[in-house]
Amino acid sequence: EAGNLADQMDIKLYIVGGFPRDLLLERVNLDLDLVVEGDGVEFARRFAQKLKGELDIYHEFGTAVLSLENNLKVDIASTRVEYYSEVASLPEVESGSIQQDLFRRDFSINALAIQLNSSSFGQLVDYFNGKNDLEAGIIRLLHNFSLYDDPTRIFRGLRFASRYGFKFEPRTKELIRQAVDLDVIEKLSNNRLFNKLELGLKDRYPIKFINLLQEENILNYISKNISWDESKESLANNIKKVLRWLDELKVSFNFDEWILYLMVLISGVEEEDVKEFNKRFNLKNNISYRLLNTLDVDNIITKLDKVESNSEVYYLLEGLAIEDIVLILIKDFSLREKVRLYLEELRWIDIKISGDDIIEFGIQPGPLFTEILKAIKKAKLDDKINSYE
Ligand code: CTP
Repeated sequence: EAGNLADQMDIKLYIVGGFPRDLLLERVNLDLDLVVEGDGVEFARRFAQKLKGELDIYHEFGTAVLSLENNLKVDIASTRVEYYSEVASLPEVESGSIQQDLFRRDFSINALAIQLNSSSFGQLVDYFNGKNDLEAGIIRLLHNFSLYDDPTRIFRGLRFASRYGFKFEPRTKELIRQAVDLDVIEKLSNNRLFNKLELGLKDRYPIKFINLLQEENILNYISKNISWDESKESLANNIKKVLRWLDELKVSFNFDEWILYLMVLISGVEEEDVKEFNKRFNLKNNISYRLLNTLDVDNIITKLDKVESNSEVYYLLEGLAIEDIVLILIKDFSLREKVRLYLEELRWIDIKISGDDIIEFGIQPGPLFTEILKAIKKAKLDDKINSYE
């Protein structure tokens, strides 16, 4: 449909970026970026009308986002050239040819386009050897200033390298090293920097991604205090195993896996430095508490290893988030029986006795109350009484 409309309007239409890349790699990608050689916004208007979709137009950038059924979104833009006047600033934009539009992009594998006009539907547009690089597994920057224009491309490069198992072309590797050495990463705001880390940890191979951050001396820019070595890598390698184990339990949990990688990365950092990290990146409570709790985990492991009774297990784990508990198992999987007992059973034990019941026994309200309730709960946890209705 898009191709027909483009033909009618006598403009050239392409799909670019992640979609053609992943198509050639035979992977699914539902990120649809269309570019039009000509007036992208006008095309977007007519296309939206035709498909009865909802359109948001961003006039300042000459782009539009079309929302269709099933949450499908299509980005539509005009082919353009970008000029960066300063490092990491927003570019000035001017219209240009498809070739110029592809050249302003980051890597050759992302600079492929597929024509959508009906007359030449499906034709690959490949000015920079992207197809070859995809086949050879190579990540190649298109121009020497790319990383100064946009330092986040360093993180994108590492993300693609880890995701697809690709290698950097030697010149590209050198450009990354130079840019890092010239502190371009410091040009990024803390927000963006953390977001790039997060994207990498959410990608398919987070451990590989962290390894690359380490190899390229980038971890330092995220925090001077975090270290990454073989022992941490092997901890991170336990994450999948623990998650598979957790999956087989009779309880299900909702949490973000990437936070576990962040917890392993930060573990071993001093309390002051964890606090500084949380503050610097302005991390939300659910993340910052997890990072702070990594400080206690070794201590809990030592105790959990020693305790024998159910109530002791309960009081050690009570109040921890599931991520904290997973971290315990990442570090010591031999504790899994106690953890299983807690997650499947102890956690749910509740006493059905109230303050009123105690008053009926002739005891006046006061500190004794809590003591009594606690003692009953402990007894119940330890299975000393079967039920107390
Ligand atoms: N792009 C770029 N420089 C950036 C971000 C994006 O050159 N800093 C270009 C690339 O050509 C990229 C396209 O814009 O392919 C679309 O970007 P985006 O959708 O963010 O990324 P994808 O390449 O689709 O990557 P992912 O699969 O991780 O979404």
